[in-house]
Amino acid sequence: MVDFEIRPSGQPVPEARRKAILAAPGFGRTFTDHMVTLRWCADQGWHDGRVEPYGPFLLDPATAVFHYGQECFEGMKAYRQASGAVGLFRPEENAARFNRSADRVGMPPLPEETFVHALELLVGQDSAWVPDAIGTSLYLRPFMIATEPALGFTLPSDSYLFCVIASPVTAAFDAGTAPRPLTVWLSKDYTRAAPGGTGAAKTGGNYAAAFKATQQAVANGCDQVVWLDALEHRWVEEMGGMNLFFVYAPEGDGRPRIVTPPLTGTLLPGVTRDSLLTLAPQLGLAAEERRISVDQWRQQCATGEITEVFACGTAAVISPVGAVRSAAGDWPVGDGRPGPVTLRLREELLGIQHGNRPDPFSWVR
Ligand code: COI
Repeated sequence: MVDFEIRPSGQPVPEARRKAILAAPGFGRTFTDHMVTLRWCADQGWHDGRVEPYGPFLLDPATAVFHYGQECFEGMKAYRQASGAVGLFRPEENAARFNRSADRVGMPPLPEETFVHALELLVGQDSAWVPDAIGTSLYLRPFMIATEPALGFTLPSDSYLFCVIASPVTAAFDAGTAPRPLTVWLSKDYTRAAPGGTGAAKTGGNYAAAFKATQQAVANGCDQVVWLDALEHRWVEEMGGMNLFFVYAPEGDGRPRIVTPPLTGTLLPGVTRDSLLTLAPQLGLAAEERRISVDQWRQQCATGEITEVFACGTAAVISPVGAVRSAAGDWPVGDGRPGPVTLRLREELLGIQHGNRPDPFSWVR
């Protein structure tokens, strides 16, 4: 296991200021007192691990990440437990996805136990930054960047920096700590990912390529963009930074059904997505991975077969979708308000994450 040197900050944020931030954290604008850094080069492998004061990097303007975007990242959270302790939610899933993303963009793997250890060290050092309220948390952003100062582009960088920063947050789209229904824009002009591309990797380029479509969504009065498949522009894939679920009214077995598009390689395999598919049967819901077309979405909202739609992700938690807008017309989802299945899943997931519901799958550690 890589060693980390601990260098505590000499100038932590004063307690009164920290408490004011924790009372209304917002999303991703304020950061804790420390960060983790760890370096890689071919000769030494992973080395120079540190927990050090949060602060800027000094990087050569030729550094590879600035030019070719060779980087990957994760999004995960530490939660204040009912017991007062702090728990990480399924960190080994993020560690595994981080390495899949790194591999896709030609970067070296980080041993999963080192990834998790780095998170534990940072959360331990900055535990006073973990807010208490249900729905708030300490968002952790592990990332790796290519640091070779060279413009050659035929081979990947010969050196990398891994870093973890932390930010106290509320759920990304909530109004306070209550879920707010989103209006979403169906993007027909742009696509996020094509077969064989980087859609399943959590790499910055996917997010950079999404901004233009998100600007279009906002210009049309929407909160977020929904991506369709690149080949037929017909099948729903995901939202910007979140997976999508459709709630179907009970059929023969009397159970509502939650349905999400399958992992085709062009969408991100969300940890929240996987958790909900696993959790749903425990709550009396059927769960299924199945393709859904835009036409089905529209028609089945009209017939009442689809009763609710929600987006999910680490940052978003579970956010209801109240309405859909597209160049070809708009339609409401249900009555436009957060539905009972959405709210039940959200309450159960947050309950497990905060340690005040049973954790049958031992997800919190
Ligand atoms: C997350 O949900 O953690 C993500 O990484 C999405 C990000 C765009 C905020």
